[in-house]
Amino acid sequence: MRRAPVTALLGWLAAMPLSNASADDAVEYGAYLSGECVTCHRAGTVDSKIPRLAGRSRQEILTALAAFKSGARSSPVMQDIAARLAEDEMLALAAYFSSIATSQDCRAAPSNEQHC
Ligand code: HEC
Repeated sequence: MRRAPVTALLGWLAAMPLSNASADDAVEYGAYLSGECVTCHRAGTVDSKIPRLAGRSRQEILTALAAFKSGARSSPVMQDIAARLAEDEMLALAAYFSSIATSQDCRAAPSNEQHC
């Protein structure tokens, strides 16, 4: 019996998270990817130049990332970051950030604080 080529198996695994994804899977993947983002994207101080992502709509986040990636919206920092993000990563990040607490919720539930 012949084994399936390894590449076919890897392709199948790579396709899994997207094709079978429940919203929860996307959120979980987004949480994993967000480590890089939250070093900058915390609510921070009122005069922070960095916009808050927590609790923003999925569409808003996706639109912004796509605009940075295409160069339609310029930001030295975010253009570099968006250029490295694949479409499924953007979807996951948008799912994650839209799912987490707003800064108001953060005050009520300090366990979310790292994202606030
Ligand atoms: C080095 C700091 C830094 C990191 C890391 C960073 N960002 Fe940003 N991000 C910014 C800044 C600064 C802006 C504002 C850019 C502008 O409007 O000119 C921004 C803007 C954005 C916006 C647009 C928000 C809005 O209100 O318009 C989104 C969406 C975004 N970032 C997502 C992400 C994601 C997702 C990651 C992680 C993959 C990430 N950022 C990592 C600094 C950062």
